[in-house]
Amino acid sequence: MGKIYCKDMSYLIFMLLLLSSLGCQKIDYEAIAKGITKEAKANLTEKLTTSIAAGGTVQAIPFCKQNAGPFTNALGMKNDVLLRRISDKPRNPLNVVSDEERRIFLEIGANQSKEGEYPTKTVVKKDFVTVYIPIPTAGLCLQCHGEPNLDIKKDTLMVLQKEYPGDLARGYRVGSLRGLFSVRFAK
Ligand code: HEC
Repeated sequence: MGKIYCKDMSYLIFMLLLLSSLGCQKIDYEAIAKGITKEAKANLTEKLTTSIAAGGTVQAIPFCKQNAGPFTNALGMKNDVLLRRISDKPRNPLNVVSDEERRIFLEIGANQSKEGEYPTKTVVKKDFVTVYIPIPTAGLCLQCHGEPNLDIKKDTLMVLQKEYPGDLARGYRVGSLRGLFSVRFAK
């Protein structure tokens, strides 16, 4: 009788250990988010350069307007996350940061390394985990996000004015923080 009891107990302890080790297995949200946004960046840059090569910035703007949002949403859905591009100074008002996101944006922006890199940030809530990944400004971006009349040509400005009357996404320099990817995982 005592023997069986002992056997049962050790089986029970084994199962408990197994279950708790499974429960403790950490999901590397940051690594997954980086993978998804790497794909997003590569794809958006490719679409952008192809469109500029075909018809210049003037044509690339309406192209961006039609494709950037749906592409980002679809890539998120494919990966079971909510994927957004957000900014404190958005071109498309749908991409504006919330109050909490604005604080995160400022924090990431203030922590640029000597090499010019911005950190990522992970925020854990009860029901979801959100990873924020920086989108810095590159030379290619200036023709649409740089200084008006200096980097952004007059005809480009006119199209921007027409398509985005409340546009705030100008005046950036190479290296400044243009936006963030927000990658939200349901827990
Ligand atoms: C041909 C002009 C053009 C170029 C070049 C360009 N963008 Fe944009 N960008 C846009 C337009 C138009 C939108 C608004 C898209 C929309 O309506 O969703 C936008 C939106 C964004 C957003 C989303 C937040 C917001 O402001 O609405 C980010 C982030 C962004 N661009 C980053 C970049 C970066 C980084 C580069 C350089 C690699 C770049 N852009 C180059 C035209 C451009």
